[in-house]
This record gives sequence, C-alpha cells and structure tokens, in this order.
Amino acid sequence: MRRDKLVVGNWKMNGIASSNSSLLGGIRDKLGGLDEGKAAVCVPFPYLQQAKEALSGSPISLGAQNVSEQDMGAFTGEVSAKMLADFDVKFCIVGHSERRSLYSESSNVVALKAEMLLKQDITPIICVGETLDERDGGMAFEVVREQLRVVLEKIGPKGVDRSVIAYEPVWAIGTGRVASPEQAQEVHAVLRDLVGSSDKNTASKVRILYGGSVKPENADDLFAMEDIDGGLIGGASLKVEDFAAICAAVV
Ligand code: 13P
Repeated sequence: MRRDKLVVGNWKMNGIASSNSSLLGGIRDKLGGLDEGKAAVCVPFPYLQQAKEALSGSPISLGAQNVSEQDMGAFTGEVSAKMLADFDVKFCIVGHSERRSLYSESSNVVALKAEMLLKQDITPIICVGETLDERDGGMAFEVVREQLRVVLEKIGPKGVDRSVIAYEPVWAIGTGRVASPEQAQEVHAVLRDLVGSSDKNTASKVRILYGGSVKPENADDLFAMEDIDGGLIGGASLKVEDFAAICAAVV
C-alpha cells in the first residue's frame, strides 16, 4: 500500500522568540508549495501560539513535544492534551528516548499519553528505539517490540491507525551516526509486523518514521526503503535549508 510520507521537525529545547521567527518564516517561504500533511514542526510549549500564527495558511502542521498523561487538575508544570487542542496542534511526540531516559518515562506512561492525545484528535508520534548496548547485545528487535507492544495493548489497532510510529535508535540521535537504510528498514519491518499481528490493515497503513541524524545527504536513501515513511528530524530541523532539503525528499 502507498503511504504518504511525512517529515516532522523536533526542535527539542531550542530557540527563542526571535530565532523562531526567522526559522518559521524561512520554513514557510521554502515549503509553501508543499502538499498539506507532508511536514510538521514540534515546537516547545511556550511558542505554540507563535508557531501557530506563523504557520497559519501554510501546508506545515503544528506539533508539540510532550503531553501529560493526566486529564486536568493539580499537576504543576504539566500540559494537557486539551490545552494542546486549543492551539490546533495536529501532532505530539510521545516516548522520545530523551524523555524515557532523562525523565524516567515508562512505556505505560507513554501509552497513557497517546490515549489522551487520541481523545483530542491529536496524532501521537510514538517513539521507540534501542540503546547502543542493547543493539550490541542483539536485543534491538526485542526492545522496540516491547516498547510498542505496551502502547498497542493500551490504544489498540484502532488507536495505532490514528497514530504515527517513529523508530529512533538512541545511538543515532544527535551523534551524527545514522542507521544505514538497511538497518532502519529491518527494524521498521519488525514494528510493522507487530502491528500486523493485531490488525493487518492498520499495519499496511500506519506510517513509521525514522529519526536519528537524518540530514539532506542521507534522507533520500532512507526514505526510499519500503517501510520508512519519512523522518523525525532533530538538529537539521533547526536549519531552514536542511529541513527544506529533507522535506524535498518526500515529494
Ligand atoms: P537528530 O536528528 O538531531 O539526531 O535528533 C533526532 C531526534 O531525536 C528527533 O526526535
């Protein structure tokens, strides 16, 4: 089945209003001609309104990087899915490896977050990925399968159908070391198979993005692989030229 490719920028904790303004303006100028639904940027919470305004009327969608697993109430510092919906957020990353490792987020919490987003019609981008030790120990498939299994169990194939999955090998994030297209393809196929064990139709439809040192130079080869449906881009999404060039690989 043909799946529309998608490129999502994850700004992480970078940028301030002034630099965002030129980045968003540049992205808008460069990508104004892109088809709707092919590109998104996930910005830090305080800049959702700025990004919403800057991207309004453009084909680039707005995304967030995290969400609370709680609905509302006394959870100081947290941001709910309902709040994100107020900003017309279309995508939200959950389970990024930086949150799993630095903020002890478990797959159970990731599953709850995905569920909250789905209730607001926001597309969760569910991240999975193994560490270098896990890969070297021959555990990569097992680790990502388990991370996704927990979420799949919670939101079911119907929830996965309304989500995007991202494979981000931890050893390739921000390191300049990219998984080869074959290495990434192999894991993407494992993830698609797992979804297929619950629902074949969802498996053929769900988009699985690759993330980890995607650059203009390697995007074409990665995105050409059968089960790689685009990318989740960190560092390169902070540079207009690079992000635009990576997006050009999906048209
Ligand atoms: P880099 O593209 O900087 O390696 O980051 C990948 C990532 O973590 C995207 O979520």
